[in-house]
Amino acid sequence: MKPLTLLFKTLLLAAALATGAAQAQTQTASASTGPVKMDSLRGGVPIQDEIPTTHPRQERDHAPSDRDFVQQPPLIPHTTSGYQITSNFNKCMDCHSFQHSKAAGAPKVSVTHFRTREGQELDNISPRRYFCNQCHVPQTDAKPLVSNTFERARGLR
Ligand code: HEC
Ligand code: HEC
Repeated sequence: MKPLTLLFKTLLLAAALATGAAQAQTQTASASTGPVKMDSLRGGVPIQDEIPTTHPRQERDHAPSDRDFVQQPPLIPHTTSGYQITSNFNKCMDCHSFQHSKAAGAPKVSVTHFRTREGQELDNISPRRYFCNQCHVPQTDAKPLVSNTFERARGLR
């Protein structure tokens, strides 16, 4: 498994475990003492405050990576430093939209990205595909946090 996907899964698992543990603790805690203090990925930053993002290891541009299974969102083969996605503007679509892809030499967003979850086909990116980094991530050459035996899908070896 690619380290970043693995890291993401590990974080998800950690979050799930933490939530479970917190719920269990709150139940006992509410009976005895005050509120439970716990560490979260946000550190001590309140939910209404923004955490400055860091890109500790921005990768350099490289050739597109092979996929590990056919349905995998392709990994981003270029730097994403400063590429913002806000409610008004999506930097990724500057190059990956149907209009701009040719000039940018970038692959077009997949046609699957225009379908809403109800199955309606739109003429612009579907809201559920708007935040590209939900699924597409750059790759970093980090050591896996947890060892694993993941292997590329047989059809893609
Ligand atoms: C300045 C133009 C530009 C911007 C902005 C840009 N890309 Fe790209 N992207 C490219 C180009 C060019 C390629 C093709 C690279 C190649 O084939 O060597 C590419 C490739 C990709 C691929 C690989 C597709 C594949 O089939 O392997 C993904 C995924 C991707 N970009 C996602 C993103 C996301 C997500 C963003 C926003 C965070 C983004 N890109 C912003 C130009 C851009
Ligand atoms: C919910 C997950 C998800 C989101 C969000 C998402 N993608 Fe994808 N993307 C995928 C998956 C899965 C694939 C491969 C299967 C497919 O084509 O649908 C893909 C494929 C692609 C491809 C390759 C298309 C090709 O022809 O090979 C590009 C380029 C791409 N996405 C860009 C984007 C951009 C830009 C955004 C944001 C505007 C985005 N994606 C948002 C999951 C996502």
